[in-house]
Amino acid sequence: MKIFLDTANTDEVRKFLDAGLIDGITTNPTLIANSGRNLFEVIRELAEMVNGPISAEVTATDWQGMVAEGHKLAKISKYVAVKVPLTFDGLKACHILSKENTMVNVTLCFSATQALLAAKAGATFISPFVGRLDDISISGMKIIEEICNIYAQYPSIHTQVLVASVRHPLHVVEAAQLGADVVTIPTKVLEQMLKHPLTDRGLDSFLQDWKTTGQSIL
Ligand code: E4P
Repeated sequence: MKIFLDTANTDEVRKFLDAGLIDGITTNPTLIANSGRNLFEVIRELAEMVNGPISAEVTATDWQGMVAEGHKLAKISKYVAVKVPLTFDGLKACHILSKENTMVNVTLCFSATQALLAAKAGATFISPFVGRLDDISISGMKIIEEICNIYAQYPSIHTQVLVASVRHPLHVVEAAQLGADVVTIPTKVLEQMLKHPLTDRGLDSFLQDWKTTGQSIL
């Protein structure tokens, strides 16, 4: 399973990229607003660092506007995946951009039927939001399971399931068990995935015992 970082913070990206832990990036208008930076500047910087898909979201709501914005965003780098919302206009823009060989990430997906239509429109990625579904007492992972099962029935579907709105490491484990193609996670969740108290405790005791030997490796 590929891991994307869900952030517009380039310092965070550099840290995890240098450790070989991430395969791509997703951003959205909220993350850009939180970064306090210019969208084009951020996407350009990310594209120079990451050799993988970088999602940049359109803000127009009509398909003509989305396609025009998509063209401008895609011009930044071959790694840009234009992110469009799961509306009729979003799917039409997805269809047009995909036919031009631009990667498209269809976002704000909350059902299997929506995912089926996004695949039909030629989406490169479909982004179901698991956390926001859990927030309203609908199992986000159940939707991921449905989408993965449906897509697996049809070899002609090449749309990748990109699990978004991830809130904790268990979402990542469940997404991987279901065979999702990609999970996009905030830095906090990536750090939580890494940590285990027994690792910390074990390392402390190994280092204490090592000190008693008086040896050094270098
Ligand atoms: C990523 O593509 C999505 O925009 C993001 O995961 C949404 O996460 P949120 O529900 O925590 O805002």
